[in-house]
Amino acid sequence: MAIFFQEEQKTFYLEGKDVTYAFFINEVGYAEHLYYGKKIGRDDLTCIRKSGGGSGTSIIPGRMEMWLQPGFYASYHDFPSELSFFGTGDYREPAVGYQDKTGSRVVELLYDGHEILAEKPLPAGMPGMRGGETLVLHLKDSITAFACDLYYTIYEETGVVVRRAVYRNLSTDAVRLNRAYSFTFTLPDMDYDVLSLPGAWARERAIERIPMHHGVVSVDSKRTSSSATMNPFLALARKNAGEETGDVYGFSLIYSSSYVLKAEGVNGGTTLVTGGIQDFDFSWTLEPGEGFDTPEVVLAYSDRGLGGMSRSFHDAYRDHLINPRYVKKPRPVVINNWEGTYFNFDAEKLMSIAKAVEGTGIDTFVLDDGWFGKRDDDTSGLGDWVVNTKKLKGGLTDVIACVNSLGMKFGLWFEPEMVNEDSDLFRAHPDYAIGLPNRARCRSRYQYMLDLTRKEVRDTIVDSVNRVLHENNIEYVKWDYNRNVTESFSFGRDPQRQAEFAHRYALGLYDLCERIVNANPNVFFEGCSSGGARFDPAMLYYFPQIWTSDNTDAEARTLIQYGTSMVYPLSTMSCHVSAVPNHQTGRTTSMETRADIAHLGATGYELDTTKFTTEEKVKIREQVAQYHQMEDLVLYGDLYRTENPFESNYFGFMLVAKDQKKAMLTLYQRVTKCNGDLKLFKAAGLLPDTDYFVPELNRTFKGSTLMNVGLRAAFARGDFATVTYHFVAQNA
Ligand code: GLA
Repeated sequence: MAIFFQEEQKTFYLEGKDVTYAFFINEVGYAEHLYYGKKIGRDDLTCIRKSGGGSGTSIIPGRMEMWLQPGFYASYHDFPSELSFFGTGDYREPAVGYQDKTGSRVVELLYDGHEILAEKPLPAGMPGMRGGETLVLHLKDSITAFACDLYYTIYEETGVVVRRAVYRNLSTDAVRLNRAYSFTFTLPDMDYDVLSLPGAWARERAIERIPMHHGVVSVDSKRTSSSATMNPFLALARKNAGEETGDVYGFSLIYSSSYVLKAEGVNGGTTLVTGGIQDFDFSWTLEPGEGFDTPEVVLAYSDRGLGGMSRSFHDAYRDHLINPRYVKKPRPVVINNWEGTYFNFDAEKLMSIAKAVEGTGIDTFVLDDGWFGKRDDDTSGLGDWVVNTKKLKGGLTDVIACVNSLGMKFGLWFEPEMVNEDSDLFRAHPDYAIGLPNRARCRSRYQYMLDLTRKEVRDTIVDSVNRVLHENNIEYVKWDYNRNVTESFSFGRDPQRQAEFAHRYALGLYDLCERIVNANPNVFFEGCSSGGARFDPAMLYYFPQIWTSDNTDAEARTLIQYGTSMVYPLSTMSCHVSAVPNHQTGRTTSMETRADIAHLGATGYELDTTKFTTEEKVKIREQVAQYHQMEDLVLYGDLYRTENPFESNYFGFMLVAKDQKKAMLTLYQRVTKCNGDLKLFKAAGLLPDTDYFVPELNRTFKGSTLMNVGLRAAFARGDFATVTYHFVAQNA
């Protein structure tokens, strides 16, 4: 049991591994936040409440006498909030924007009972965390019969808290939601930095850390996609919090469309966090009796710095989000033809790429863009999911037969959400593309987006994609998504409901995933979006791994993979060894460096293998074998980020088995130094008193020695060098 209700003080204690989350129902029935942090006793915490107040405070109607009592302050603005609302004296960021037919925007959402469910239901039509004991707190406005259910789930073994809100119209008239955030959370001071993961194409998820200040710090996307520009994540880190020390609160949203997460410094010294679906360009009509489910947000508290927060997210996402069918299984090691051929291939070329890796341990051949429709470049063909027999003379059959005869699986690229103007689909159904009747559409990569908010459009996509999957022996799919919505408008939808578009797109996308991904349980799915532009937890529910970035340069990847690991486990990051000079940066790095960095994720190769020398082929066989020896650490281990490439000349990832018997440290030096510095590189996460054998040094050390003294890294001469150390516990 993880959820306890203390009747007398009406206090809820949610208890997970090492953490407590507590709030109570106060005198006016408001859900008032008390605490989230290291595990505490189930004590009465009401004595920590704020007392006193200022002139001009808006007192809750009928509560003036209470305000006059010493020690109590009856204003919504002053209550640490679990769900902030507008119009009754709370001037902080509200979680809900409501309007009824009278024009009133006022609601007062107060306690109306609660229940505890043994298992958490998923939000309607959306992905979310699986299982877990769940508290449902019912809040209601007594005048309008507008209601809100707050869901709380805590996992005993990880300590993350999953939250969401469901707004309900229990009245007899339609109401409009102009904002429908998932949660509110309050911290009693503002001594934090705000950490976010901004980026762009080919440099996704950099790390930005700024001081929390008065007013609103906002992380958002208005692209109808979670985007490379900002990941749906925000953390509040104590000023002194570092990689392995200090308090950190992380907020990760399980959502793929436009979103917002806000931290507001308010009341002269508290921090309120709220967010969910982006409310810019959003409104939703709720008919009588209808409910509106919001996406889940995952809160992770750690007193062990950013590293502790990341490990909590990694454990929680591996255990409760990513499809259990894949999460504990070795990943395919792929050869993908994209950077090897781009659009320029025929069946023979593909077969020779596959044949060239025979015997290397690479077990899956993935045919990327260009196999379908009239697709010889990116100007045509999207939407026509029928094989281009001009290019592939024997259809897919011959290529698949060849790949299978080599003992390899076959994978295929799709971009199901898109259409080119030059396609049979567009010619037959121009209105299937998102756009306005009287306005030219923006093109992006010569393509338009299909209107997933419409069922007939989704049906067409499902039929054509599933047909290819059913007619061929396809065991892997790369699902790409290469542009963002413009002219957001859906043909045939009520004008009053056009601002429902961005959320309806998310619901349409999830429906598509249910009907293609979940309906093909034997196919392994990888997500992609011009690289990693839709790398979010909702996509991870369907795709156990996502192409991390189109930038395959090892140096650039140290930064991208470091930033991505803030929230996402290494097993979710698809990483390939590609040719040099690198196609994105022009940089040349060694084969060892490219492999060492690509092997810190779900690894693969993406280059023209027919150009391999015999020595290179032998090298690849060795690399794949080494990867398999350590892949359990990549898939299920604990990550310690030991060197930060955003702040130094080095990158360091230490992967440690859960039982701490086996570990690996990968170090990278950006620029070599002649007569270099004396820097020692510390290990992390080992058992201090255990002896570890380090094969690279043929020496044994205590864990405490490795973690406190460190190792001198034997980088090879030259820039962009890596070195790896392995640690094997002796008699542990
Ligand atoms: C996107 C992907 C690439 C590749 C191309 C194909 O850019 O990120 O990996 O699949 O599309 O067009």
